[in-house]
Amino acid sequence: MQERTEAVLANGFADHVLVCTNARDTEYACCADAHGEDVYEAVKAWLRDRGVFWSQVHVAETSCLGLCSADGTAIAIHPRGRWYSDVTPDDVPELLEREFGPEASKLGVEPSPP
Ligand code: FES
Repeated sequence: MQERTEAVLANGFADHVLVCTNARDTEYACCADAHGEDVYEAVKAWLRDRGVFWSQVHVAETSCLGLCSADGTAIAIHPRGRWYSDVTPDDVPELLEREFGPEASKLGVEPSPP
């Protein structure tokens, strides 16, 4: 086991966006059926367009975040500790702009309360 925190921070890490793409084969709603993959792609595209994808903002697909909905996907952003549900691909620019600023210049910055 290696502790890599210093190396990750030295590489410029600022924020981690977790996008739920969890699928389940039950009657309960899940993000895979509520735009999960499309939201994940929209998040990556927005960050790529601003040159911060994986340089400063890491993105990962995740399993259930406990905010399941048939109307959209769940997203968590850490370490700022923010959670969203019901996110559609069209919501992604507004969401990321709110968190990171229009040009992604507010990275690693504690946001004001929602
Ligand atoms: S399946 Fe995505 S939050 Fe539960």
